[in-house]
Amino acid sequence: DKNITILAIETSCDETAASVVRNGYEVLSNVVNSQIESHKRFGGVVPEVASRHHVENITMVIEAAISEAHLTWEEIDAVAVTEGPGLIGALLVGINAAKALALAHDKPLIPVHHIAGHVYANHIEERLTFPMLALVISGGHTELVLMKGHMDFEVIGETRDDAVGEAYDKVARTIDLPYPGGPHVDRLAAEGEDVLDFPRPIMEGYDFSFSGLKSAVINKLHNLKQKGIAYKKEDVAASFQESVIDVLTEQTFKALEAYEINQLLICGGVAANRGIRSRMEQICEDKGVKLLIPPLNLCTDNAAMIGAAAYYEYSAGKFGAMNLNGRSNINL
Ligand code: KG4
Ligand code: ZN
Repeated sequence: DKNITILAIETSCDETAASVVRNGYEVLSNVVNSQIESHKRFGGVVPEVASRHHVENITMVIEAAISEAHLTWEEIDAVAVTEGPGLIGALLVGINAAKALALAHDKPLIPVHHIAGHVYANHIEERLTFPMLALVISGGHTELVLMKGHMDFEVIGETRDDAVGEAYDKVARTIDLPYPGGPHVDRLAAEGEDVLDFPRPIMEGYDFSFSGLKSAVINKLHNLKQKGIAYKKEDVAASFQESVIDVLTEQTFKALEAYEINQLLICGGVAANRGIRSRMEQICEDKGVKLLIPPLNLCTDNAAMIGAAAYYEYSAGKFGAMNLNGRSNINL
């Protein structure tokens, strides 16, 4: 049997990334150019700034990925790219680069869903086995996904408003922590106590809602300030984080009870959170389910995860046409 080698490109948000992946999990190169420093002064990702950075960096990043893999174009079988969801201008930079390369080198084009990529990030270290439940938690997504086979996704729960990472970043801003705030809240939470009594919004079924929790934090701090009552940032972080963890674990636990599942996978940038990790370890131990968490550099946006998922699209003969467009909203 022949090796399948895929060049993958990811530009859905604020990382310009390219990678070469063989047979779905062998990563030959993985280049990520992060724009976080450029967005910091605005306190969040500015779409137009992101698009411009992608335009400036995309050629260099792709060339680096190919040269680090020590490959010529003859040895590359296909070009994969994130089709969506994401910022439309940012997505289009990657898609147009992928189309141009596919056309110039006469290779098939493979559109990949960004969340499929986040799930397949795990496949690189350890193969996925089914049936499996994935909790995708990032700056843009909060989803519970049931998988019964490769590229077979059923979204059983999702956020009705803010993504969990977005809530982290907004709460971080109210206590003057720099962007992205998630890691700072995580760090402070370890030094504080859950004393502020924030709500635990548990939806029916497996959906999530974090905007009420975010507003509750903002209102509470506003009220305390008005009354001249002092509070510690550490306690705000700990109280908010405990609420988030309670909600995430409760919904995940319900799904583990309802479905026959071998593995729980947690992925996306928020999967780096220490509090979330340790509580998920607990429920998996209780349920006798194997817990998988990709390494940190594969939890955050990268193109290796896109190349891993693309292998299964290639195997199924699912290719994109040359009129492929970016889709900011697209179902898994
Ligand atoms: O997956 P990612 O890099 O980008 C998106 O696709 O959104 O996730 C970024 C998000 C940010 O909101 C960031 O604050 C959050 O992940 N994050 C964390 C932690 N590390 C990153 N949130 C909570 N705890 C962390 N340790
Ligand atoms: Zn992402």
